[in-house]
Amino acid sequence: MTSTPPATTPPTGVPAPADRIAIDTSRPHPARVYDWFLGGKDNYPVDEELGRQIVALEPQTKYCARHNRWLMQRATRHLARTGTRQFLDIGTGIPTAPNLHTVAQRVNPEARVVYVDNDPIVLAHAEALLTSTPEGATAYLQADAREPDRIAELARDVLDFTEPVAVSLIALLHFIPDADGAYEVVGKLMEALPSGSHLVLTQLAGDFDVERTAQAVEMYRAGGVTLVPRTKEETERFFTSTGLQLVEPGIVWLPDWQPHLGVDEERDGTPVPLYAGVGRKP
Ligand SMILES: C[S@@+](CC[C@H](N)C(=O)[O-])C[C@H]1O[C@@H](n2cnc3c(N)ncnc32)[C@H](O)[C@@H]1O
Repeated sequence: MTSTPPATTPPTGVPAPADRIAIDTSRPHPARVYDWFLGGKDNYPVDEELGRQIVALEPQTKYCARHNRWLMQRATRHLARTGTRQFLDIGTGIPTAPNLHTVAQRVNPEARVVYVDNDPIVLAHAEALLTSTPEGATAYLQADAREPDRIAELARDVLDFTEPVAVSLIALLHFIPDADGAYEVVGKLMEALPSGSHLVLTQLAGDFDVERTAQAVEMYRAGGVTLVPRTKEETERFFTSTGLQLVEPGIVWLPDWQPHLGVDEERDGTPVPLYAGVGRKP
């Protein structure tokens, strides 16, 4: 690294106390509905209401949300163990232990992690993301994934873009329609990074149970949230369109991505209709 900013310095926006951040509780927000699925306390009645509707439609949703967190842990462990020491996690969500930096820094205490989310509730709770080891660094950046150039510019305060960075877009891209530039966002982020960088993503499947997924999309739409399921081929295009090489086992159902790396995971064979994949920039 050319310069070493002090650990836990956010590149922008020091998290303010929750009561000084404007939180819109009149409509559900993806971060808070997901928090409800995970059994968290940082959600409001509107979030719980949508969460309950989704669980009534798909009773395994809470199990799927937990599997999504376990995938984050497995992918982070894999990357940290194979030498990645910088992480850019976009669409971080409300902190949920263990957070990505804890997993990465358990493998390599020097790991540096920049978290990004556009929801003020995540900013309000961001202190929990800033508990770095002294050797490493963590930072939180309040930004929209649809501004990849701004994210790259600000993340450079903490991450060295001449060394590989793992970008994680975990359960994020299904909130970004193609028309809002989902593929371009991934392309721009990976373009800014050197060879040996990685992309980790999970994506709600559009070719699992088409009818029920359409009902879920409608429930989110009624709550003012756009949800974009994608087929396996459409998910794979995030990697192929940016020239990334898929890490084994390729794009698979989320629990099937390198399950041997799991720690304390529950597995009962229930289908999880999310795709997962990790790709490496050659
Ligand atoms: C389902 S949560 C996933 C959280 C975490 N990545 C995980 O998998 O556990 C999706 C997160 O993406 C964030 N998000 C959605 N659209 C976004 C955007 N355009 N820019 C930044 N964050 C976004 C939401 O606020 C939410 O925190």
